[in-house]
Amino acid sequence: MQPHPPPTRRRARTAAAPAQRNPENAGDGAAASDAATPCLLQRAHLRAVPSTLLIPLAARARGSRYFPWLACNDVVATSLVERLGADVEPCLDDLPTVLNVLWRTRAIKDAGRSFFLAHPKAGGVSLGCGLSHHFQWLDTGANQWLDADLPEVMDLRRELLPVRCPRTRHATVDITQPGWWQRLGLPKEEGEGDGAGVQPVFIVCEGVLMYLQPAQVQAVLREFAQCAPEGSRLVIDVMTHRAVGRAAQHASVGPTGAEFHWGVGSMDELAAAHPRLALLRQQSVSECYGWPGVVLETLWWPWLGAPLYGMATLGVDGA
Ligand SMILES: C[S@@+](CC[C@H](N)C(=O)[O-])C[C@H]1O[C@@H](n2cnc3c(N)ncnc32)[C@H](O)[C@@H]1O
Repeated sequence: MQPHPPPTRRRARTAAAPAQRNPENAGDGAAASDAATPCLLQRAHLRAVPSTLLIPLAARARGSRYFPWLACNDVVATSLVERLGADVEPCLDDLPTVLNVLWRTRAIKDAGRSFFLAHPKAGGVSLGCGLSHHFQWLDTGANQWLDADLPEVMDLRRELLPVRCPRTRHATVDITQPGWWQRLGLPKEEGEGDGAGVQPVFIVCEGVLMYLQPAQVQAVLREFAQCAPEGSRLVIDVMTHRAVGRAAQHASVGPTGAEFHWGVGSMDELAAAHPRLALLRQQSVSECYGWPGVVLETLWWPWLGAPLYGMATLGVDGA
């Protein structure tokens, strides 16, 4: 997340005449109904944090007009934005966030592709999936995918993106409640000698953890570390701890009423959550701003302690 001018306190509006269009087909992501879904977003009555799902959705659907070199070609998002009937232009005014989302989408795609190249029959999970659709890019023809989020979001998702492929599934989950790994039916690291042949899992949790309390994030990381089979990966986005409590100053998150509760004072904190965890990769969005971005981040580093906005890949095998 980048520093912004004071927020404009605008909310995404429902368009007066939502477009009626058949969704484009992409993996199992072809949206279900041909019927128009006016005011669908309003009818969902999403609370503050769940309502933030519109921000990355808008960026993936329309953000490439500002950052063509980061275009993710998300045909599902493009279709969904039209079907939701929401005016997402206010989200697109927040260009630093649009850039963050497109950059992280590319990072997740890259991480997912290299994981599934090595494990073409393994499973992937999007924790706090919102209306994202990574399987359109990561379907190997033999792997599985699970999209999971809070019940109110999954109700909306089921209506818009019902499961069409037998290798994909939906689940409701609250990752602040311990035991989510088992409740989601994910493959578990077995005791010594029993774990041979257990497929690793690729997990993406993007745009989610910053809304949780620090102790809840630690518990999520620990549960991944304790349960995930060897070779599993957890890809997350992170903000500096200096952003905590400052969501009101954020141009697109501010108007939703959501707050940032978790940030890192150092990237090393991530792997410190559990001895089995290793920080395999860290990235900063400053790379998108060329040398001025890198220089500025270096100057601010003693205060920030971590990227303003970055990505981390955690693994459980020390590889
Ligand atoms: C900014 S949206 C990101 C959605 C999606 N990951 C994306 O990038 O498009 C934040 C998402 O986190 C989900 N979320 C927040 N707290 C959660 C929790 N405790 N358990 C599961 N999902 C949660 C919200 O419901 C929402 O869909």
